[in-house]
Amino acid sequence: MNQFAMNFMHVLSGKEVSHSVYEDLKSRIDFLKKKGVVPSLAVILVGDDPASNVYVQSKSRQFKKMGLHSDTITFPEETSEAGLASFIEELNQDDTFHGILVQLPLPKQIDEKRIIRAISPEKDVDGFHPENLGLLTAGNPRFIPCTPKGILRIFSHYDISPSGKHIVILGRSNIVGRPMSILLSLKNDSGNGTVTLCHSRTADLKSFTKKADILVVALGSPELIDESYLKDGVVIVDVGINRVSDDSETRYKLVGDVHWESIQTIASYATPVPGGVGPMTIAMLVENTIEAAEQITKLS
Ligand code: GUN
Repeated sequence: MNQFAMNFMHVLSGKEVSHSVYEDLKSRIDFLKKKGVVPSLAVILVGDDPASNVYVQSKSRQFKKMGLHSDTITFPEETSEAGLASFIEELNQDDTFHGILVQLPLPKQIDEKRIIRAISPEKDVDGFHPENLGLLTAGNPRFIPCTPKGILRIFSHYDISPSGKHIVILGRSNIVGRPMSILLSLKNDSGNGTVTLCHSRTADLKSFTKKADILVVALGSPELIDESYLKDGVVIVDVGINRVSDDSETRYKLVGDVHWESIQTIASYATPVPGGVGPMTIAMLVENTIEAAEQITKLS
């Protein structure tokens, strides 16, 4: 390919899309406030994982900025599963909170599945409770998990339709890969894709990624994906946020699962890190908390 035939890669700015989401949410917040309701979220953080600390702080900063209420409740690393579950029971009954979020991962003595089941499905703004996952799978979601929901919103903002496309997803987590695979294969306007879900046991990963029209990467492997994995014109969504050391003042930088420089001449669109999927996850958490407040108070 000569330099004139080379395609220009477009940046999918989650940061920009999140600003338009916040603009759209203002009237719903004003309406609730006029009725005396301030959407309110309880965030539970167990232990002191540095990445989780950063995520939780960004969430609470955004709630404040939007005039919403959020409380972060911190528990020590050695907290018991039963103690955490009974605290969640209290929050389920507490009318001051419309949403409950337990930051994952949890320390190893705590069974995440049991804790997620303890959250009232009506307050489960992450959409992780089995009842909410069932509703999502049936095509009738109550809360859509924030990261997959944010990715769908990026697609609709930039007029990228998954319909009829081959979408390859790398990573089968309950937070991103699995719900993303379900959403993109649903029979509706944001779905209708043909989905391949790859994971750590997938043999010959490149044989799948090279056939992708849309590639969603949620592996947690810094800069693994370069042009050798890709088909010309692919749309790339990079969910990875990895800290790698460098010689800057902070001694680290954030990189995605995709090698940004090497995809420039092969991809048609890609989300950057930072400024891609991350800001959309937070925007969708704000939106889900507003939805929870609307549903619980029957105001909308
Ligand atoms: N850890 C990483 N991403 C998420 C998320 O979206 N929600 C929760 N609860 N924990 C996470």
